Amino acid sequence: MLRSVGFLGWAVLAAASEMRSDDFPNYDQGTIPAWKDLASLRGAHPAAQVMSKAEYHRQLKSLDIPRLYREIAALMTSSRPYWPADGPQDGDVPSYAGLFARLAWHCSGSFRLINDTHAAGGCEGARQRHWPENEWRDNTNLDKARGLLAEVKLQFGDVSWSDLMTFAGTAAIKLSGGPAKKFCFGRMDDVNGDRSIPLGVEGVTQCRGSKFCKSDAECPNSFRWPEQNDTDHARCNIEQPKHRLQASHSVGLIYVYPEGPELKSTADGYNSNFVHNRSPKLSALEVRDTFRDRMGWTDRETVALIGGGHTLGRTHGNCNLTGTKWAQAPYNNVGPYFEATPGSLRGPTDGTCGTGAEAGRGKNTVSSGFEGPWTRSPSRWNYDFFDALLSEEWVPAKSPYGADQWHTRNETSKFARTMRLTADVSLVADKIYRPIVEEYAADHAQFDADFADAWFKLVHRSEDHPHKDDLEKDAGVCTSFEFTTLLP
Ligand code: HEM
Repeated sequence: MLRSVGFLGWAVLAAASEMRSDDFPNYDQGTIPAWKDLASLRGAHPAAQVMSKAEYHRQLKSLDIPRLYREIAALMTSSRPYWPADGPQDGDVPSYAGLFARLAWHCSGSFRLINDTHAAGGCEGARQRHWPENEWRDNTNLDKARGLLAEVKLQFGDVSWSDLMTFAGTAAIKLSGGPAKKFCFGRMDDVNGDRSIPLGVEGVTQCRGSKFCKSDAECPNSFRWPEQNDTDHARCNIEQPKHRLQASHSVGLIYVYPEGPELKSTADGYNSNFVHNRSPKLSALEVRDTFRDRMGWTDRETVALIGGGHTLGRTHGNCNLTGTKWAQAPYNNVGPYFEATPGSLRGPTDGTCGTGAEAGRGKNTVSSGFEGPWTRSPSRWNYDFFDALLSEEWVPAKSPYGADQWHTRNETSKFARTMRLTADVSLVADKIYRPIVEEYAADHAQFDADFADAWFKLVHRSEDHPHKDDLEKDAGVCTSFEFTTLLP
């Protein structure tokens, strides 16, 4: 079993919740409980029928895209009591922009490119709603994002979940004042999560007896960096049994381990006065390993995507769970216990965190365990991410939850209320990434243009449409958001 403060953070959320699904209207539309999925994979229930691709693409020709955009806009800025929108705790307006952008990113970021020839994953299929993706720790609290979006889904019935999630993320960026050039519809949903199994299975507590039950949480082919502390988690080599396709750290963390590797006390740069010794330099190698070698991104696209993604929204870890049931088995087991429980809404939403109406929600949420926004206006597009990365000295810090993150050394800086992950700081510690960060800080228009291109590629590539233009060629239903100039 893998354990650490940060890792535990993700695992804690893999826990059964006491929030009832009738507290959250439409929640069940967005997430299929694992037991239902597993039954369908075992053939106990016939898979639901979905319309043919030809029929879906034909129907899309009459989709009212401006109306869909307006409905997402209305939802994005209208905070719901059952999952309050972020913003006010950081001095900004309430908005689900960060949450919806992360939803689209996590749905799309399962994409893997193998030897430049074979693709797997991606958002098309919407398997994030299904086991095993809905149990990956990286996807914590995205069940709430899908539950919120279900309100729109109910109005636009036949729009696929994969089109809706990617469009909502893109619209969220555009509505926040960010760059979005174009979006194409046409993604088909899968009826179960079968095609995500090669990406890794985690969370098998209630899955005894099934052929899918073996958790891939630990990688058979693993290593530690020579400078890395021996008690810190091993990393997953790119080659794994049966060509498994998880990211560099482990199954369940499908992108990059945000805390980065912890240094040995004998390593260069180790400082015993620091609250942690996470290495941004080594973290950069892990970012590149995942983004370039596993997902097929260039270094430039990687920097643009991380900087743009971490312009909106925030991290969530405003609560110390030590001494509560959430810090004990089964809640903190690696591998999600939560989705295997019918009706579960995950996470410590039972009031353990915080007090009052927002206990366990809103500003009292624990998702990753890190805490704080990257920018001074996380509900609105801005350029703080790169500007502050360069202008500030970032020093090791802890979140209230106990995760290792970075704060500004200057406590009176205008950026003092923002934070960075080790993976963010890695972008200025790496000699290839750093000049790109400098370019984007100096030329915001270039950053906007590169981010918009990379985001388009992100949400359009998938196993079914591996190249960024494939979907457009296949379905031919796109918008360049011309209509937004006419909106009030
Ligand atoms: C090195 C790669 C990355 C790492 C390690 C990383 C890690 C994280 C973590 C730990 C959180 C906090 C989750 C929470 O507690 O709610 C987060 C949030 C977020 N990430 Fe990333 N991320 C990475 C790349 C990206 C990329 C490429 C995008 C988009 C293009 C993105 C978009 C977002 C957004 C929008 C949020 C805010 C979510 C919210 O406001 O609820 N991230 N990320």
